[in-house]
Amino acid sequence: MSQFVQLEVRPDGIGIITFNRPDALNALNSEILLEFWELCKEIEKNPAIHVVIVTGAGEKAFIAGADIREMSSKTTAEGLEFARLGQSAFRQLERMPQPVIAAVNGFALGGGCELVLACDLIYASENAKFGQPEVKLGIMPGFGGTQRLSRLIGKAKAKEMIFTGELIDARKALALGLVNEVFPAPELLSAVLKIAASIAKRGKSAVAQSKRVIEEGQDLSLDAALELERSAFGILFGSEDQKEGMRAFLEKRDPRFKH
Ligand code: CAA
Repeated sequence: MSQFVQLEVRPDGIGIITFNRPDALNALNSEILLEFWELCKEIEKNPAIHVVIVTGAGEKAFIAGADIREMSSKTTAEGLEFARLGQSAFRQLERMPQPVIAAVNGFALGGGCELVLACDLIYASENAKFGQPEVKLGIMPGFGGTQRLSRLIGKAKAKEMIFTGELIDARKALALGLVNEVFPAPELLSAVLKIAASIAKRGKSAVAQSKRVIEEGQDLSLDAALELERSAFGILFGSEDQKEGMRAFLEKRDPRFKH
């Protein structure tokens, strides 16, 4: 297992990824991004993981961005390759069938904020801070921030964050629709685990198909997206979980999904 990207697989089907480089506020260098990309590919194929939580080690940061020390000497071609690496890793995360929850326990800046934006659900501690401060360094967001942030909170608010580079606190992030909910710092992980556990109990394919249709439907016309929904809905009727889920309801008991 990697030193900087750790995975804990719990018996309740929850996988916790922890970025563990607290002395550099969990900053992302090429090595860490590659490890994270590989880990996402492994998790996708792991039937024991139903829900994924991503968090950062230490009290202070989720991830304070891409590694500025590494980037400082990059050429144009190397900058492009670095963006390709970060974008590919985050796309892998976004496309995994399991729901991914960000537990933002401190600074989520630059590439850290961009990683958060590739997650399905985002929960933050009261001390969390979000920002795309790249322009302060003479660069711009390169791991998806220009696209996912504007899609999530709207162009005007995304431009304000990206053009000024100013950080926002968790309350403001909540008001902007950037996070789902804010918790006191000591309660963040237990609150997120509770939400993850409630998802992990549901039919795995039902959750995965919901995620796929919501994601793929965003870029389609309403009619095409509804067709996508219909076909996924139909597919689920061929599953054992559908039979069990409905049988359990009618027999007034909890379902025992086999996933
Ligand atoms: N890259 C490399 N090292 C970083 C880092 C980063 N993004 N962020 C923090 N660190 C390191 C610091 O250099 C410092 O290391 P040393 O102890 O060896 O000096 C250590 O982490 C602790 O940081 P600070 O002493 O700065 O802590 P602070 O509490 O005073 O400040 C902070 C915290 C406001 C988050 C500040 O560290 C900061 O501004 N970090 C940079 C944030 C940033 O600009 N992120 C965007 C990067 S660009 C990017 O991500 C591009 C992209 O889109 C892909």
